[in-house]
Amino acid sequence: MELPHGITGKLAEPIEKILFTEQEIQERVKALGEQLTRDYQGKDLLVVCVLKGSLYFTADLIRHINMPLSLDFISVSSYGDATHTSGIARITKDLDEDIEDRHVVITEDILDTGLTLDYLVKLLQLRNPREIKICTLLDKPSKRITGIRADYSGFEIPNLFVVGYGLDYKHKYRHLPFICTFRDEFIPKD
Ligand code: PRP
Repeated sequence: MELPHGITGKLAEPIEKILFTEQEIQERVKALGEQLTRDYQGKDLLVVCVLKGSLYFTADLIRHINMPLSLDFISVSSYGDATHTSGIARITKDLDEDIEDRHVVITEDILDTGLTLDYLVKLLQLRNPREIKICTLLDKPSKRITGIRADYSGFEIPNLFVVGYGLDYKHKYRHLPFICTFRDEFIPKD
């Protein structure tokens, strides 16, 4: 398969199909940023990036939000190397900012079972923010086992194992500029 950016060798080997190209992602992210600019005009906006997967999405998204905002990071552990959630979530890096009375937008690369965000939203609600909204690049509603819904969503996807643009395969491949599926022999089995 012909891949952009001269992606070859070991980096290219597991890739089956590009689901969203770099250009498609960038266009959608720009539109989301413009939507947030409209919705949060005049408000004290704090963007909370959930490490590590959301790093790329968040960095691109906020550069399309045309107003002052703050950025903070939080890290929740739930998955390890597996593709299925253990359902156990704990904070491994907490926010630095006080969120009381502020407009919080949590940014995620993917909303899957919803367990991570369910845990996070409940935790952050205890700190009395003005409001919490969820902005996810990918939404996989077929996997949801909680009532969590995205307020802003880039793309809805079927139940596929996806990698790239922040999404990892065994902690690697996050830096691919596109989102792709992997060949069957590379996909972690149950
Ligand atoms: C992924 C993703 C979300 C979560 C979504 O993170 O970034 O945080 O899983 O899944 P859920 O809706 O089933 O909870 P992961 O735990 O793989 O960590 P990472 O972002 O550091 O890769």
